Amino acid sequence: MDSILPILYLIASITFIIGIKMLGSPATARKGNLVAAFGMGLAIFGTIFLYKTSSGEHLGNLPLIFGGLIVGTVVGWIMAKRVKMTAMPQMVSFFNGMGGACAALISLIEEAHRDPSATHDPVHSLTIIAGLVIGSVSFSGSIIAFGKLAEKIKDLSFSGQQFLNILVLGGVAVLSVMFVLGSLSGLTFLLVLCALALAYGVLFVMPIGGADMPVVISLLNSFTGVAAACGGFLYDNMVMLIGGILVGSAGTILTIIMCKSMNRSLANVLFGGLMSAKAAATGGGKTATGSIREVSATDGAVLMAYAKQVVIVPGYGLAVAQAQHICHQLEHELEAKGVIVKYAVHPVAGRMPGHMNVLLAEADVSYDKLVEMEEINPEFATTDVVLVVGANDVVNPAAKTDPDSPIYGMPILDVEASRQVIVMKRSMKAGYAGIENELFYRPNTSMLFGDAKASLTALVNEVKAL
Ligand code: TAP
Repeated sequence: MDSILPILYLIASITFIIGIKMLGSPATARKGNLVAAFGMGLAIFGTIFLYKTSSGEHLGNLPLIFGGLIVGTVVGWIMAKRVKMTAMPQMVSFFNGMGGACAALISLIEEAHRDPSATHDPVHSLTIIAGLVIGSVSFSGSIIAFGKLAEKIKDLSFSGQQFLNILVLGGVAVLSVMFVLGSLSGLTFLLVLCALALAYGVLFVMPIGGADMPVVISLLNSFTGVAAACGGFLYDNMVMLIGGILVGSAGTILTIIMCKSMNRSLANVLFGGLMSAKAAATGGGKTATGSIREVSATDGAVLMAYAKQVVIVPGYGLAVAQAQHICHQLEHELEAKGVIVKYAVHPVAGRMPGHMNVLLAEADVSYDKLVEMEEINPEFATTDVVLVVGANDVVNPAAKTDPDSPIYGMPILDVEASRQVIVMKRSMKAGYAGIENELFYRPNTSMLFGDAKASLTALVNEVKAL
């Protein structure tokens, strides 16, 4: 019986790797999630029923363990069933925060269980402190990110914030080193350190806003993975260690990809956050002036139906309007008229990594029609019509032209280079970064105001009628 648990852990670890691989494509992502969840189930129930302590006993406290499992499952199930597609990013952030909190709690509990007469083990202390600090930062940072994504918390910066951040981080570092060296110990001390790390998580995410949030979200994700891996190390538990390392490395890779997409270094995101928060708070950069042109669905349909190539740029508004299916239908109608239709997908469009890919996959849009930014940008000059569906920041030329803009330096989709741009949105309101968009005032841009689903439905009907 003793060899069964390591085999279950091995199977679970393999399912995590297969699951993560399958998450790489929208076609297999759903199954990949189930495969990894099955492995996680094996690991959890294997541990509950087969794990033996050093004295050879099985786990006790079964009513408590199953009570927790039932409450967690019911709450998670209800949240997942009720969440709107547009609220998915904040829910992912919330769940990520829960992972960090678990890792921090493991460290606190293990410290409370430590035998005070045992000799000091610096490696054990290092694992405890790393799990506690990284888990706490990840928890409070993710909760702030949750509030920002839900638009309940605004970016906040104040003078001396950089200094305060460095002071708190320095305090956490010094106290951690003292704990590892054995000069300070005990649960009360760890609780103080936990409070400081929680405060740092809040201070670190509060000023970061606008275009930098995607990087922070993936960074917090990697923190949670590392914190969980510390728990695996602490318990000498292979599957927890592998799971944590996979999440940590996937989050780190995503952070690097996001930094590259935003043309930012990580240090610039973390320490330049204050600047972007201030810029966004003051409206950020130049005020766009001039007049806008409106276009009717009838005229928009004519423009597109007689075009050679139409590029659709999906953005967060597509998710809000849940217009992905009707968008796919428009693609069909245009193709029936001989138009080449492509989708230009910006890496940070929407509110979570891969948001647009997931939405379009849900509507069965063929994956090879989705073109990445670097590939599509040179094509805009020869594109007849670009249809911007609820995107704003990712097509804002201020990122290239206005050094005072909080999104300055972020690579954007160069839609303004095309012959005609049709922008679908409900009003002249700003996007996530809170800044105006000069694109809307360009002579080759026309606005089609209204909810994206209603406007796309009107376009489909008009194209059909031609
Ligand atoms: P945004 O710049 O946020 O613009 C979305 C636009 O959609 C808004 O201007 C809004 O204008 C419009 N809209 C909303 N509901 C609509 C509806 N029902 N019908 C039609 N239009 C609607 O979106 P984006 O261009 O996709 O850029 C994403 C932004 O979010 C970036 O700044 C990015 O840094 C940030 N962000 C991204 C992520 C990730 S990982 N993707 C995470 C956090 C933050 P109206 O109100 O006038 O309709």
